Amino acid sequence: MSTVAVIGGTGMNVWPGFEVRKALSAETPYGPASAAPLAGRIYGIDAVFLARHGEGHRIAPHVINYRANLWALKQAGVKTVVAIAAVGAIAPWLPPGGLAVPLDLIDYTWGRAHTYADGVDGELRHVEFTEPYSERVRRELLHAALAARIDIAEGGVLGVTQGPRLESAAEIRRLKRDGCDMVGMTGMPEAGLARELGLDYACLAVSVNWAAGIGSGDIHSEIGRSIEEGMGKVRAILARALPALRARDEEMES
Ligand code: HPA
Repeated sequence: MSTVAVIGGTGMNVWPGFEVRKALSAETPYGPASAAPLAGRIYGIDAVFLARHGEGHRIAPHVINYRANLWALKQAGVKTVVAIAAVGAIAPWLPPGGLAVPLDLIDYTWGRAHTYADGVDGELRHVEFTEPYSERVRRELLHAALAARIDIAEGGVLGVTQGPRLESAAEIRRLKRDGCDMVGMTGMPEAGLARELGLDYACLAVSVNWAAGIGSGDIHSEIGRSIEEGMGKVRAILARALPALRARDEEMES
């Protein structure tokens, strides 16, 4: 049976309120996922949770096995994925503690295993990526935010950098010139792999700091101050969006 999954990142390595029923297999043809995907119940529905950085938040963005993570979700019967991502804000309309559902992205990462079409399973496909995120999932997240009276930016471009270090001020100026509104380290290849597997995937981005050179204070103190505020809003949105996404998946199956 198809189900909805949440990939939790920085600030959401565990999912408060999620009742774990079963740890699913983390083993895939691409090696082990960051952690066992957890099947459980929340908000009155079945859902799956995967901690992107592994148990105890120990796997850095550039060494996450994204292929295994997405594969493990697919083999667990997942159809729809909401990816939670902490980001640094470049655009003035995304202050720390604020949320966005990005519409597009630019991939600045390098050296990550970023495709299943590498000859291993014999099939070469050039998936379309004009719209990297599922509009259906985006709309459901935005609708849920509106219903919960939570301010959220309806779009924006996510720049995905290699990490694990933060960016220099000049790198952020370049991202800004390129049209990026926010910056994170895990959005790719995650979104591209989800597309290759035919998963409906969208990102719920949580601004946790002003990107390098945009704000004044110390970035880590800013993250410490704003992350809980943002994650509280994320949970309120998921509480409405996930049951709706799940109902939609069930409708499509029947
Ligand atoms: N840069 C990159 N990734 C991030 C940031 C940032 O400033 N904040 C949270 N994730």
